Amino acid sequence: MIDLEGAMAAARAAAATARLDAPPNPWVGAVVLDDLGEVLATGATAAPGGPHAEVAALRAAGARARGATLVVTLEPCAHTGRTPPCVEAIEAAGVARVVVGVTDPDPRVAGRGLAHLRAAGVEVVEGVGAPAVADQLAAYLTHRRTGRPYVVGKVAATLDGMVAVADGTSQWITGEAARADAHRLRAESQAILVGAGTVRADDPRLTARLGERTYEPLRVVLGAAPAAARVRPCLERSGELGPILDELGALDVLQLLVEGGPRTLSAFVEAGLVDRLAWYVAPALAGPAGLPALVGLATPTMESLRRGRLVAVTRLGEDVRLDVEV
Ligand SMILES: NC(=O)c1ccc[n+]([C@@H]2O[C@H](COP(=O)([O-])OP(=O)(O)OC[C@H]3O[C@@H](n4cnc5c(N)ncnc54)[C@H](OP(=O)(O)O)[C@@H]3O)[C@@H](O)[C@H]2O)c1
Repeated sequence: MIDLEGAMAAARAAAATARLDAPPNPWVGAVVLDDLGEVLATGATAAPGGPHAEVAALRAAGARARGATLVVTLEPCAHTGRTPPCVEAIEAAGVARVVVGVTDPDPRVAGRGLAHLRAAGVEVVEGVGAPAVADQLAAYLTHRRTGRPYVVGKVAATLDGMVAVADGTSQWITGEAARADAHRLRAESQAILVGAGTVRADDPRLTARLGERTYEPLRVVLGAAPAAARVRPCLERSGELGPILDELGALDVLQLLVEGGPRTLSAFVEAGLVDRLAWYVAPALAGPAGLPALVGLATPTMESLRRGRLVAVTRLGEDVRLDVEV
């Protein structure tokens, strides 16, 4: 038996299994509970065109869904996309109560899902476990609210903040576990952006290799990529960063991973366009002849120090990943 917070945590765990394949749809999880708080079924969003989490959970519960509670991380959809509206499936299944983590800012939903359910006589409870759900869905929610991707800046640095040694090479500062984690971060992103300097120095493939599967997010190069670079085909863009984010948002990029180098990442930070830093730190020292992770940020006084919010610390073998909202 679990309470509603526990059921929402179970729904989030289900949603995590949909993180890589659901985009550009949101990665949602759902749990069907009986009167005693026993879990009857769980569901997660399938790849686009497949059932949403609510429908997957209701199908798994079958006739037992009648009179039950459906706990779902995101407000159920009220519009017909590639699949029919989830609110109709919930109504048809005879669910008595729907418990929602966060409302959906997508203008096609935006409260209509909950209004539809209430009008149909379904009890609706909002905001259960909302902060954790909002964190899990940050990329989707940012995209729907702003039309731009959620921007994650990734850095692999030494303890003294260097991302390359004196000869300009940086492969590999971090160990295997951190690099495997970074591949997962790539797979979670629909586009990866690097500066032309990084293409010239490292010529990264920018694919995400996860076990048997390879994900190929859209590749974006800031500046002019050398003709022979392996990163093609890709988008090459220069100039203002805001319009580049608008363009990527219109291409259904929910999360953009900015992989550097220092000049590129600094440009994003200075423009206030980074939502989160995924900062991998290796227990290594490069010395002052190395290349600092960020360049050109002026901090003349302590008042101008840019402070972020530490949201996670993860040990990965000998390395550490710090997640910081900036
Ligand atoms: N350890 C790590 O996490 C990591 C990650 C990536 C890279 N690196 C290292 O970083 C080094 C390369 O970094 P870098 O700083 O020299 O180059 P970079 O940031 O990769 O690329 C800089 C280039 O981006 C282009 N650009 C276009 N618009 C820009 C804008 N608005 N702001 C900034 N850049 C813009 C310019 O290209 P044009 O010149 O064509 O105009 C500029 O020369 C390499 O040594 C690489 O190994 C380390």
